[in-house]
Amino acid sequence: MSGSGIFAEIIDGDVFNYYADGKWNKSSSGKFVPIINPTTRKIHFKVQACTQEEVNKAIESAKIAQKLWAKTPLWKRAELLHKAAAILKEHKAPIAECLVKEIAKPAKDAVTEVVRSGDLVSYCAEEGVRILGEGKFLVSDSFPGNERTKYCLTSKIPLGVVLAIPPFNYPVNLAVSKIGPAIIAGNSIVLKPPTQGAVAALHMVHCFHLAGFPKGLISCVTGKGSEIGDFLTMHPGVNCISFTGGDTGIAISKKSAMVPLQMELGGKDACIVLEDADLDLVAANIVKGGFSYSGQRCTAVKVALVMESVAETLVKKIKDKVAKLTVGPPEDDCDITPVITESSANFIEGLVMDAKKKGATFCQEYRREGNLIWPLLLDNVRSDMRISWEEPFGPVLPVIRINSVEEGIRHCNASNFGLQGCVFTKDINKAMLISDAMETGTVQINSAPARGPDHFPFQGLKDSGIGSQGITNSINMMTKIKTTVINLPTPSYTMG
Ligand code: G3P
Repeated sequence: MSGSGIFAEIIDGDVFNYYADGKWNKSSSGKFVPIINPTTRKIHFKVQACTQEEVNKAIESAKIAQKLWAKTPLWKRAELLHKAAAILKEHKAPIAECLVKEIAKPAKDAVTEVVRSGDLVSYCAEEGVRILGEGKFLVSDSFPGNERTKYCLTSKIPLGVVLAIPPFNYPVNLAVSKIGPAIIAGNSIVLKPPTQGAVAALHMVHCFHLAGFPKGLISCVTGKGSEIGDFLTMHPGVNCISFTGGDTGIAISKKSAMVPLQMELGGKDACIVLEDADLDLVAANIVKGGFSYSGQRCTAVKVALVMESVAETLVKKIKDKVAKLTVGPPEDDCDITPVITESSANFIEGLVMDAKKKGATFCQEYRREGNLIWPLLLDNVRSDMRISWEEPFGPVLPVIRINSVEEGIRHCNASNFGLQGCVFTKDINKAMLISDAMETGTVQINSAPARGPDHFPFQGLKDSGIGSQGITNSINMMTKIKTTVINLPTPSYTMG
């Protein structure tokens, strides 16, 4: 059960505490933030509404803890991360239960998220030991006009305090994808979890607490975005921001100080289907890619661009598979569960109604109960419909029929987003050329877009983000190069 057993100390009455200075605290605000269960649409959990003063203190102790942590041997940092990963995996059940209640993640996927997170943390430990244990050695006489009198040694040093802001769809996994790299690289972390997902995140943070990290090194502040959001992202004590979420990221990047930013801000991931594609494979990937977690993934297939000659057959195959998706509560492990909030459901409905008005073909009847929206495939979508360009973050997938590959590429590249895309064809030469032409951070050939495995590079172009993620890239991003130059005296004699 959430908030019980080893997690008993993270809750006070019926409000979950925030974590700072190595302990669980009640906010002096005396206020809480309610967390609405998307399924029942009732308050399920409450978390502390931290004050700006409490944020200041968390950042201050993060600063102090980081100085010592940077001097802690790399193997010891790795050892603690492995310990946290093991505790996290051991306690996957209560953490997954929070994900089911807070974000309506289907029960099995919720467990998968926690296990994947443990694996990610362990991989960070191993990768960090490998890549941070190495530096570079340069000599001066490779640059014109220089003698061999300067030896340059480089190593990677931490940035300081990293602010981590993960989104609601992976409040545990996309939190540890920031915590793991930051900590192994010698940084400290201040985590601001999403409101929905905050309790799962607090449970995850407790696993790090139990692993025995020094006090202040990791903190987790909860609260209203209006009170502590800008305050955190513009805080002079923050040395790096790693954010995953929506277009709030664009605002953050405009307001933040001169600190390294890592941003992943969504996508309109296109799936281009050629005439020679294996249509059963395409249908399976479009349904999994478009509808898993009810389409609430940045990497979900968000528009299928299908060659006219195979569109009829493919749409029929997708339709048959969509009919088999189960719809209902996350506790029953249904494929399609309620979307995160009522306003998200309203937004999705707005896109559907716009497509209806403009003449899209509905492959199923549109159905909604509360936040639960039945999976919907829209065929014959045209580019004057909002759904062609906007990200529904819901179980609605548009199919645009195309007459040439170029038309598909043009549509993909006309988007403001550029996260991932995919292409289905048996012709590897064509696939490579299309991949080159698509303006997205990643192109998957013959599979749906996906972030994982978590050590692969993951990045968006255009409005989809700044910087590259994936374990190795995140570790590197959360470090700076430090150079020491040994200046030798000019030899007064000739050797040899
Ligand atoms: O932000 C990335 C997330 O939305 C998608 O991750 O693992 O489902 O591809 P994943």
